Amino acid sequence: MPRAPAALLQTVDDSGLPDRYTRTPDVTRRTLERALSTAIDSIDENLDEFNDQFPGPSSEGLVYSATDNTDGWTTSFWTGLCWLAYEVTGERRFRDAAQAQLATFERRLDCGEVTTHDLGFLYTLSAIAGYRLTEIEQYRSAALTAADLLVERFWDAPGLIQAWGDHASPEDSWERGRMIVDSMMNLPLLFWASEVTGDSMYASIAERHARTNAQYIVRSDGSTFHTFKCDVETGAPLGGETAQGYDADSCWSRGQTWAIYGYALAADYADEGAYAQLSAKLANYYLSHVEADHVPRWDFDAPADQSYRDTSAAAIAACGLDELAHRLPLADTRARGYENAAIATLGSLGEQYSTDRSESNGLLTQGAYDPTDGDYDECCIWGDYFYVEGLVRATEHWSRYW
Ligand code: GLY
Repeated sequence: MPRAPAALLQTVDDSGLPDRYTRTPDVTRRTLERALSTAIDSIDENLDEFNDQFPGPSSEGLVYSATDNTDGWTTSFWTGLCWLAYEVTGERRFRDAAQAQLATFERRLDCGEVTTHDLGFLYTLSAIAGYRLTEIEQYRSAALTAADLLVERFWDAPGLIQAWGDHASPEDSWERGRMIVDSMMNLPLLFWASEVTGDSMYASIAERHARTNAQYIVRSDGSTFHTFKCDVETGAPLGGETAQGYDADSCWSRGQTWAIYGYALAADYADEGAYAQLSAKLANYYLSHVEADHVPRWDFDAPADQSYRDTSAAAIAACGLDELAHRLPLADTRARGYENAAIATLGSLGEQYSTDRSESNGLLTQGAYDPTDGDYDECCIWGDYFYVEGLVRATEHWSRYW
C-alpha cells in the first residue's frame, strides 16, 4: 500500500483548535435522543411518498418533491436515511423501503446512468449499507460494479479521479483532468472494494487521489479549493477554480467539510496518521471560521450581503469531527475538542434550524445547495442525512456505512 507523504501534508498551516471547543457544550444526551426520535418520525411520515421514489436534492418552500433515480448524486441520502431508521428502530418497513430503492440503483448501473465520480455517494449509502446490514450478495456485487466504474475515471499521470463528464471528454474541455474536493467522500467505496475483494488496486487509487487532493486542493492556510485541474498527459497542475463557491480563491464551507470527513475516513482505511493530522488542520480552519452558533456561512469569503448559512455543511462537519476524534492518537487532547464541536453543532441544528413538520417534509432549514444559482435557505437531502447520521453517532453504538 502506498504511504502518504507526511512532510507534504505538514506544509499546511495550523490555525489551532479555537478555545471555545475545549469546554463541554451545554447539550444533553436526552436532547439529542429527542431530536433523533423526531427525525425518525419525519422519515416514517415520508415513507409512502418516497418509497421507490426520492426527495429531490433540495426543497422548494421547504418541501421536497419526488424524483426518479435516473441522474444526480443525491438519491442515496434518502436510502441512507431509511437504513439508519431501520437500524435505530428495528422496524421492517424502513428496510423494505431501502430495499425497494436498491432495485433502482441496480437499474441505474445497468442503464449506464452513472458517468460521475459521485458513484461513492450513490453506492455507499445504498448498496454498501445494504450489504453491511443484510449480507445480500447482490448488493455487494452492485457496489463492486460501481467501484470498477469509479476506477475508470482515474488519470494516472496526475494521480486523480476526474469528477465530472465522461472520462473521454475532449482535451480542451473544462471537465477533463478536473478533480473536486467532494471526491474525498467517494473514496470509501474504493477502500471498501479492496477490503472485500483483497485486491489492493482500488485502495491504491484512493490513496493516490487523496495525496493529489492534499497537494493541490488543500491550500497552505488549511482552506480548500473546490476544484483543481491537472494536465492528464504530463500531470502538471493547471490551477484551482470554483463551481459552487463564491470565487476561485474563496473557501466554500461545504467543500471544507467534505475534506474534513473524507481525510478522517481515509486515515482509518489506510491506517495513515498523516491523513488524520490533515483532517485536524482542515477542521481547525473550519472551526476558526464557523459562526458563533456553529453553523457556517455557505462560503467563508462571501460578502456580507451573501451571508446565507449552510446547515448541510454543519451536519457533514458534525459527522466528520466525530470521526476525526476517533482517528487521533489516544494522547491527543484535541480529540475531546472535536467531540465537543460535533455535539455543539448537532445541538444548534436541532434547536435553531429544525423545520416545522406541519409545513415541511425535510429536517433542516437553511441548507445552501448553490447560492450562485439562487438555491439557498432550503432543506438539502444530504444535510438531513448527515444530521441524522450525526445524531446516531452521538446516541447509539453504530458502525458507519462509509
Ligand atoms: N457534492 C456536491 C455538493 O456538495 O453540492
